[in-house]
Amino acid sequence: MIKKILLAFDGSQNALRAAEFAVDLHKSIPQARCAIIIVASFTRDEAEFLGVSDAEFDNALQINAGRILQGAVELFNNAGLAVDKVILQGDAAKSIVEYAGENGFDLIVMGTRGLGNVKGMLLGSVSNKVMHLAHCPVTVVK
Ligand SMILES: Nc1ncnc2c1ncn2[C@@H]1O[C@H](COP(=O)(O)OP(=O)(O)O)[C@@H](O)[C@H]1O
Ligand SMILES: [Mg+2]
Repeated sequence: MIKKILLAFDGSQNALRAAEFAVDLHKSIPQARCAIIIVASFTRDEAEFLGVSDAEFDNALQINAGRILQGAVELFNNAGLAVDKVILQGDAAKSIVEYAGENGFDLIVMGTRGLGNVKGMLLGSVSNKVMHLAHCPVTVVK
């Protein structure tokens, strides 16, 4: 039985399709919990290099990542479903897999491709790496 679903979301069209899938799945398992995770690859070190303070960086991260997440949050809320929001920074695939493992998620849902513009590949680097590293089932939505 799936109890905890983690949706990896980067704001792309593909990720929106993955979000719709996660909403439908959640509807069919009402007792499940769902969280949406977004990982910023931009690090505090890089921000410091640009002269951005920790506080400014954290603030910008929360505001902008929160804005991107909102598209997926609305899909859940419009379906009458609550959803948690997780904003992290670091390597996207590693962060998604670690968060899923540490917090007992049963399933990761994500898109095949994301915001990258390299055409021709079925899977993007993040979906490919998550599938390699994950300790739980991964649903990759086309
Ligand atoms: N930074 C991120 N935070 C959360 N999820 C992400 C992130 N980047 C990608 N994903 C997830 O991985 C899927 C595939 O994206 P990705 O592998 O980055 O493909 P591409 O190479 O086309 O950008 C996305 O649809 C999304 O579900
Ligand atoms: Mg990408």
